Amino acid sequence: MKKLTFISCILLGGWLSGAMAADKTQPVYKSAKAPIEERVNDLVGKMTLEEKIQQLNQYTLGRNNNANNVGEEVKGIPAEIGSVIYFDADAQLRNAAQKKAMEESRLGIPIIFGYDVIHGFRTVYPISLAQACSWNLNLVEDACAIAAQEARMSGVDWTFSPMIDVARDGRWGRVAEGYGEDPYTNAVFGVASVKGYQGEDMSDSKRVASCLKHYIGYGASEAGRDYVYSEISNQTLWDTYIPPYEAGVKAGAATLMSSFNDISGVPGSANYYTLTDILKKQWKHDGFVVSDWGAVPQLIDQGSAANRKEAACQAFSAGVEMDMMGHCYDRHMAELVKEGKITMEQIDDAVKRVLRVKFRLGLFDTPYIKETTEQERFLLPQSLATAEQLAEETIVLLKNEGNILPIATDSKQTIAVMGPMVKNNTELLGSWSGHGRVENVLGINEALDEEFAGKANLVYADGCDFDGEDTSKFSEALETARKADIVLLCMGEKRGWSGENTSRSIIELPAIQEQFIAEMKKTGKPIVLVLSNGRPLGLAKVEPLCDAIVEMWQPGVPGGKPLAGVLSGRVNPSGKLSITFPRSTGQTPLYYNQRKSARPNSGKYQDIPSTPLYEFGYGLSYTTFSYGDIKISKADIKRNEKFTVEIPVSNTGKRDGAEVVHWYISDPFCLITRPVKELKHFDKQLIKAGETHTFRFEVDPMRDLSFVNSNGERFLDNGEYYILVKDKKVKVTITD
Ligand code: BGC
Repeated sequence: MKKLTFISCILLGGWLSGAMAADKTQPVYKSAKAPIEERVNDLVGKMTLEEKIQQLNQYTLGRNNNANNVGEEVKGIPAEIGSVIYFDADAQLRNAAQKKAMEESRLGIPIIFGYDVIHGFRTVYPISLAQACSWNLNLVEDACAIAAQEARMSGVDWTFSPMIDVARDGRWGRVAEGYGEDPYTNAVFGVASVKGYQGEDMSDSKRVASCLKHYIGYGASEAGRDYVYSEISNQTLWDTYIPPYEAGVKAGAATLMSSFNDISGVPGSANYYTLTDILKKQWKHDGFVVSDWGAVPQLIDQGSAANRKEAACQAFSAGVEMDMMGHCYDRHMAELVKEGKITMEQIDDAVKRVLRVKFRLGLFDTPYIKETTEQERFLLPQSLATAEQLAEETIVLLKNEGNILPIATDSKQTIAVMGPMVKNNTELLGSWSGHGRVENVLGINEALDEEFAGKANLVYADGCDFDGEDTSKFSEALETARKADIVLLCMGEKRGWSGENTSRSIIELPAIQEQFIAEMKKTGKPIVLVLSNGRPLGLAKVEPLCDAIVEMWQPGVPGGKPLAGVLSGRVNPSGKLSITFPRSTGQTPLYYNQRKSARPNSGKYQDIPSTPLYEFGYGLSYTTFSYGDIKISKADIKRNEKFTVEIPVSNTGKRDGAEVVHWYISDPFCLITRPVKELKHFDKQLIKAGETHTFRFEVDPMRDLSFVNSNGERFLDNGEYYILVKDKKVKVTITD
């Protein structure tokens, strides 16, 4: 190492003292050592009204495939903008935009870059509805952490995820994006994903800020149509839709997104009760709320505001701090302040919320991201292994008559593989697949070829398309099927049939697919139906035609490999449904935690049974499990006393297998009627063949047996409750 010369010492000394002098004079908000609140207050104190208002807007940058999202170039972005939706995955573009904000804005406030990282960024995981079927919270947390790493290293600081809208209507295209029909399930998976995205410290270069969406009641959209009215009483709001959000906020979610839907007369994006009374005053959330895309100007379409200025006033006053692509705040906020309709105090509070999140993300201290190669951040071996394991655990075996699965490989059977999903890797990615690429998806055919090489003879035919009326390939498929021992039909939904604005009025398989299955049945060969879809399907017509049904969902990049593992027996399926499968669309909405009927034996349909085809929590295994009785530590309990329930579960089959135990509670009488049963805990355990595992649940009466009234007040009645697992139950009495 070269010795420092006298001259260079003087120069260095001069530079150092200059730097130190600058350090002394540098504003508090620029000091990484100062506490965040001090930095926030210092900065807000220096900002002009115009600079403050700019922080409350979000524009777009980069491109995605939707025409409405074609973004502007860096030059089109104001240097003072609060946030952009970043459709790219390129560090240079992001850093160029950030440089503009840091160097061309007067105070050098970094931009927060947001994006929809829904089920993975480039390593695409199974859709969220499927993830919940794994009942594996750790795995979901890991997957979100990997998504966060890929996103942050690609320039995204903030994901618009998780979606924790309780969704009970399979017609709604967005059921795919959430964790199903149950409040508790959405709450715990929401918390797992917040933890995965944010970690302990959001300033970590591999973590992102999360966003709970769509606050609130979006999943209650009438008749499963998107953007429409939702009828939600305050009671239902509190007992069904709020629990996931309360849990997510308590877990530290940095932001929330206000919803499009009108909640019984007050739109979600202009709802003071939910956005301010509950979120900010009661739960003390100190991050910010971003509107959904254009949800502020849409208050005009909803008949709540007469014009954009009024829309800005309504949304902002209700508690929406950031206007996503609505151009209402940027155009009208200054005017509203001048007219005294919005106070400076309100503006300051909103700006502080946005800045707080930016400071927590470390954006002021590390505004730029390191440029890395795709190989350094995407599709890493561990990321792919997590994706594969998660996809394996999401698969739900719905039917397995005569144990036709796994496919016996001793006699090298011929399997006829057909249906529109077989070679269609794109659809396996699912909706909102971020930067996922079809070339990274292993097709069903490719996976089967690998899995069954030398063990079975695979023959392929197209059969039918996803929809339409073309039956021209039926006869070729019939011929192929007749020569086979087993017919494997890979059917379901295109990925574009799920997601935003993709409702379906009929959730049965399209007629052509039903017809094709019926045609194949004519061969008399055993039929294995494999389904890839983003919603629960009405399978009453096809179920009797099939010997086995495997729900593989939309698995993301692992594609056909987990399915192939299940078909061959390499993987023993352990997934259980996170959403009820009705028999037909007419039963929708159908969910396990309905309230009781006045006449339990009446009120039925005349044409079909009222029960689901496959209920919430349903899923088969290649082994069998036998449940013992529930043991309770003490049956008479004081209100604040915890107690334990235990149930032994034995693997009575010949294969090792994982079993998920769902613990429900039921309150037979309450002044506010309650669901027939409510999920409160679950656990998943691998049980070896012949072994027994005892599952435990420590019940905290105030947390697990209590209920909430229409004002959000939690109460615990004295009296009898039941703890239930499958058909086993035990009574507990609560007293003072
Ligand atoms: C969707 C949100 C999404 C946002 C940004 C909206 O249309 O409803 O879920 O986060 O766009 O892409």
